[in-house]
Amino acid sequence: MQSPTAATTTSPRSPSVFLTGVTGFVGGTILASLCKVHSQIRIKALVRRETDAKELQSVYSNLTPIIGDLSSLSLLTSQAAEVDLVVHAGGDNVPAVCAMIDGLASQNSTGSPLPRLISLTGPRSLIDLSLPITGNLREGSRPWSDVADAKAILAVPEDRMHAGADQAIIAHSVAKGVGTMLLSPGQLWGRGKGHIKKESGAGLYYATVKSRGRAFVLGEGTATWSWVSIGDLGDAVVFLIEQATMSGNTRSRHVGVNQDGYYFVRTGDLSMMERAKAITARLSLGDVESVSVQVAKEIHPFGPIMWGCGERTRADKLAELGWKPKEADWQALMEEEGGERA
Ligand SMILES: NC(=O)c1ccc[n+]([C@@H]2O[C@H](COP(=O)([O-])OP(=O)(O)OC[C@H]3O[C@@H](n4cnc5c(N)ncnc54)[C@H](OP(=O)(O)O)[C@@H]3O)[C@@H](O)[C@H]2O)c1
Repeated sequence: MQSPTAATTTSPRSPSVFLTGVTGFVGGTILASLCKVHSQIRIKALVRRETDAKELQSVYSNLTPIIGDLSSLSLLTSQAAEVDLVVHAGGDNVPAVCAMIDGLASQNSTGSPLPRLISLTGPRSLIDLSLPITGNLREGSRPWSDVADAKAILAVPEDRMHAGADQAIIAHSVAKGVGTMLLSPGQLWGRGKGHIKKESGAGLYYATVKSRGRAFVLGEGTATWSWVSIGDLGDAVVFLIEQATMSGNTRSRHVGVNQDGYYFVRTGDLSMMERAKAITARLSLGDVESVSVQVAKEIHPFGPIMWGCGERTRADKLAELGWKPKEADWQALMEEEGGERA
């Protein structure tokens, strides 16, 4: 906890945190990033398997593993009640996140909610699947800003991917007086920095193209997702933890929470055709092929969504707080450490 003198300095203090998902791609990177910058930080993390717990403890000496599952709601509540901040990277799981909010609420003071929970989500909630999938950038579409479009982002139909969970988590946070930040990265490029799972979905398109012998897009392949490197995502989480736990005097600006707490994390935009051309050049393949929605579905049930849709985001909230991504070369990230990503 913060010493009496630390409150008057300008450097961020080391809080105590409880993490979930640390054996995963995103959570593992968050754990590694946090330990790298704040070696003295006290970290507890939910881990399902004893073997993973031992493995992680051998690498991170300041980590206390808590053996359990996201369905152990009373365990989650009691762990959250003991820390300054919770970071959830264990997927959409409303009961689990609400249980942690309950724990954080038990040590709440009155007044406006302080930032206490960072929960990972994703921008697939922005895809309007009532419109046909074409593979092309929708005419008239524009990037979503997490400042200008903050209300609209949290008001999309709740049956969309992530949307119901996002809205339920914010509603519970408001009801309990806990400040929640929903962190929404787009596509994640690069090798994970965590100790256990280092690769994510970017390998699927690469492997599919390799086995078909040709890169493919839907339509003209102008559908575009925003992206950020996995390393920069870890850095953004550490930055937000620092911002959230600074004393009121030293916090640079207002850290938005709840209805003002949806944060995109973004470096650039990348169309499907750019990805297809990059792997074509890397593997010396023939021309990029345009496939139908039906063929994309036959390749993978989620093919049309993964390869035929896209939404561009603007991380205006993080920019206002002073955070900037560092890794801008997406092609280098795809090939980082010999990675088979595209
Ligand atoms: N990866 C991406 O490209 C991407 C992009 C945007 C947003 N996100 C968001 O980031 C979050 C994490 O994604 P990820 O890619 O890191 O997923 P992941 O690699 O599959 O990791 C999931 C983590 O959650 C843990 N977990 C899952 N169910 C659990 C349970 N019932 N009890 C305890 N732990 C449980 C897993 O533990 P085990 O190891 O024990 O299974 C693992 O540590 C998700 O909310 C996702 O939507 C990811």
